[in-house]
Amino acid sequence: MLLTGAYALVSGLLADLFGFPRFLLHSWAGYACALFVLVHLALNRHRIAYYLRFRPPSEKKAPPAPSTRSVRLDRRGFLLGMFSGLAGFLVGLLFPLFRRPATEEDWGQQYHRWSKPGGSGLDAFRIDWGVHPVPFKTYPQAPRAVLPSPAWRGPSIGEVIAARRSRREYVPGPLSLEELSVLLHAAQGITEPRWGFRAAPSAGALYPIETYVVVHNVAGLDPGLYHYAVADHTLEQIRTGDLRAELVRAGIGQEMLGTAQVCFILTAVFGRTRWRYRERAYRYILLEAGHIGQNIYLAATGLGLGACAVGAFLDDAVNRLLGVDGEEEATLYLLSVGRIGG
Ligand SMILES: Cc1cc2nc3c(=O)[nH]c(=O)nc-3n(C[C@H](O)[C@H](O)[C@H](O)COP(=O)(O)O)c2cc1C
Repeated sequence: MLLTGAYALVSGLLADLFGFPRFLLHSWAGYACALFVLVHLALNRHRIAYYLRFRPPSEKKAPPAPSTRSVRLDRRGFLLGMFSGLAGFLVGLLFPLFRRPATEEDWGQQYHRWSKPGGSGLDAFRIDWGVHPVPFKTYPQAPRAVLPSPAWRGPSIGEVIAARRSRREYVPGPLSLEELSVLLHAAQGITEPRWGFRAAPSAGALYPIETYVVVHNVAGLDPGLYHYAVADHTLEQIRTGDLRAELVRAGIGQEMLGTAQVCFILTAVFGRTRWRYRERAYRYILLEAGHIGQNIYLAATGLGLGACAVGAFLDDAVNRLLGVDGEEEATLYLLSVGRIGG
């Protein structure tokens, strides 16, 4: 009883201290301790009944002797212990101020609550108007590949929405540069040059998402890694080479990342949106990646290609492949796009 009680106590304190939602065997130790306490009370019920009888010592009968060991705790000590335990329980129950949120709540739920307006308790945020974040990255030293103007001659939006499916089986044969151009333009292309507004919406028009393309098979492009330069609708070549094996490994063995003609990798430069939206920024950034992902799905479907979103990947491996640090800029989402049969 003492061992399980001590373990439950220490593990509970450590979990509380480090904010762990769970601690190995903490609950089981607590249940085992409670069980031992009940057994202990049941075995000693005669002695307890004796303690609880408030009669002058002269009237007392000798207590039944369940064991030969001497009793060290007198009645006053026993009752004091019981009342203290009960009082502690009631204080914990009545004063939620001292209680932490339910341990079943995961980090996502905690973040969601924390990022409600005013939920973080941080000072009102101030925007530094002098340093408006630049809404795109550039690789000035990288060789550039010019893309043709995106020409959309697909079926209607209604037909495209009805036909969209996640497609993971691709047939050989290159994509054309025109097709890649349409896909990139649908993802993040500038559609309102005057203000730099793009195909997908962005909270505060801050555009935190960067688009990279791993080219496996596109006519006119060397296989390798490219960055989409939104400002002039070109591709910046970051590295060349066959990246199929590396990408499949980083995608936890999902073969379509190697059999697709291209794979899109969406990263976020968190600071852009954090500049204005602070603790709420992360919500917006994930939503924006979703918008872009859907645009890529729909454009691929309209072109008669197949696309599949990939959320299951090894973050560090993909970040390494791109050469981003995973802190200021990190991978959020992958999408394979390829030619499909039939
Ligand atoms: C956020 C997100 C992550 C996903 N991750 C994967 C993935 O890692 N691998 C995969 O094969 N499909 C992935 N999918 C595709 C879903 O499995 C697919 O959308 C779902 O089965 C519904 O099928 P549909 O897209 O054809 O309507 C993902 C979809 C979303 C939206």
